[in-house]
Amino acid sequence: MTDKYCVIGNPIAHSKSPQIHAAFAAQTGQDMEYERCLAPLDGFAEVVRTLIKQGYKGANVTVPFKLEAAAIATRLSERALAAGAVNTLQFIDGEIVGDNTDGPGLVADIVRNAGVALANQRILMLGAGGAARGVMLPFIEEKPAAILVANRTRATADNLVAAFAGHDVEVAACGFDEIAGPYDIVVNATSSSLAGDMPPVPASAFAKGTLALDMMYGSAPSPFMQFAAAHGAETRDGLGMLVEQAAEAFTVWRGVRPETRALFTMLLNLK
Ligand code: ATR
Repeated sequence: MTDKYCVIGNPIAHSKSPQIHAAFAAQTGQDMEYERCLAPLDGFAEVVRTLIKQGYKGANVTVPFKLEAAAIATRLSERALAAGAVNTLQFIDGEIVGDNTDGPGLVADIVRNAGVALANQRILMLGAGGAARGVMLPFIEEKPAAILVANRTRATADNLVAAFAGHDVEVAACGFDEIAGPYDIVVNATSSSLAGDMPPVPASAFAKGTLALDMMYGSAPSPFMQFAAAHGAETRDGLGMLVEQAAEAFTVWRGVRPETRALFTMLLNLK
């Protein structure tokens, strides 16, 4: 019997995940289906219960349900626990297992696809919400020299940094007006690109050789990417992270790691 998976979100119509997972399944010869699932804003848990009854093996979870997915899980992976959010669910023997592949996806995109090692690098993280929290532990595990978290609301950055103290990596919080660069890697984990806006990051954060990565993706470079490029940085959007988080989820579900490069190039050319 064909194993069933889906991606749950609201909205969900524009999700590229079905296309990505169909390509992975074809490439690795896995017998599975993957579709979009629109959940009502107040109906996430009900949708999950229905999927389990219908025999689904798992689901990806996207905006705005990643926190609810963590709450509904009966077991969480270490990285989901650290992220406080879940983007990958597995339904196994009556259990709902929550995982988070966003951070490993971003690390894979930076290290393998962009060819930039994180070890010993100075990283500037812009934003301190769910997206930033999700990538902190996978970043720390790569042993960068330091991670500075800058946020509009300073207290949120302080709380995030406090949650990741005690590792062998210097992690500090600041306001945007305290940023003193340049940094090797600047990650825009704010949701500002959604509004066609950018965080108030100074030009001094960037230099020639800086990698500036926006976790969002779209058909055109975001204002953050345009600003970073104008100040010498190499830029990258969140398309590679999207493909890599999907590959990691696929590996968790199926035990087979798909190859991502050809698919990434194909999606890039479709933009
Ligand atoms: P997500 O899950 O996408 O991270 P979130 O948890 O709501 O969403 O967090 C949004 C992040 O983007 C926050 O860090 C927010 O800053 P505040 O904590 O000060 O609200 C940040 N953000 C959103 N719009 C922004 C803007 N225009 N400029 C700077 N930061 C912005």
